[in-house]
Amino acid sequence: MAGGKFVDVAEVSRRFRTPLGDIAALEAVSFDVRAGEFVSIVGPSGCGKSTLVMLLAGLLAPTSGAVSIGGLVVDRPQTNLGIVFQSPVLLAWRSALDNVLLQLEMRGIPTAPHRERARTLLGSVGLDGFEHRYPHELSGGMRQRVSICRALIHDPPLLVMDEPFGALDALTRDQITLDIQRIWARGQKTVVFITHSITEAVFLSDRVLVMTPRPGRVDTLIEVDLPRPRRLAVREDPRFAAYTRQIHDRFLARGVLRDIEGVA
Ligand SMILES: Nc1ncnc2c1ncn2[C@@H]1O[C@H](COP(=O)(O)OP(=O)(O)O)[C@@H](O)[C@H]1O
Ligand SMILES: [Mg+2]
Repeated sequence: MAGGKFVDVAEVSRRFRTPLGDIAALEAVSFDVRAGEFVSIVGPSGCGKSTLVMLLAGLLAPTSGAVSIGGLVVDRPQTNLGIVFQSPVLLAWRSALDNVLLQLEMRGIPTAPHRERARTLLGSVGLDGFEHRYPHELSGGMRQRVSICRALIHDPPLLVMDEPFGALDALTRDQITLDIQRIWARGQKTVVFITHSITEAVFLSDRVLVMTPRPGRVDTLIEVDLPRPRRLAVREDPRFAAYTRQIHDRFLARGVLRDIEGVA
């Protein structure tokens, strides 16, 4: 499924200057994502995950190193990717459909030819019949689905999601996880998925990149060799447990997690 190297993060460091001194958010981070691959990034809060998203989107520049997408160095805000943030940031006065189309309007693309596609996208995440509802009429999960459709409306080759399910309840997270898997499987898209859920990372990914605490570095990269499409029940598979265990162990080794003492 995966093709050549599509995203290339090479020796990227990023520091922030603050009144209390310099903060090293990322240090010498290198990894790549092949075309069509699903890569998750897990790491503790503050390890630079959102900073990495901003670097991929060209909304921040690295202090050193370089990010390339599709062979081109990212040196300005990127238009050929879709981003989903933890909070869906929808405009309250626009319907679900018009919030999806907003992405095109902001790019100066006429929306009329894309209304049907926007409807189809909303339908593909279970929002049939909700096209004309306003954000306050939608649940948190529905709002996040609208923001996923908005990120996809211009059919970008790369989708970047920054803890998109953080604010959702467990059942809704499960459903959206399945939706994301389906969108990815159909769309031939390259996905970078940031999460602090080890289970979600293993469930969705071809590879999981585990980060160290700040300054964020690549701790380890784990290849998840489980057949696709994956059903929720795969989470009970011993192979699945072995992958999550491997990631837990990295966090334990780094002091990100501390297990009960005195218990083997
Ligand atoms: N614009 C900024 N100015 C100063 N410090 C920042 C800025 N953005 C992020 N940081 C700091 O960089 C570190 C990494 O932040 P972030 O990328 O948001 O981490 P994560 O998303 O993994 O929780 C944190 O210590 C944060 O306080
Ligand atoms: Mg973050």
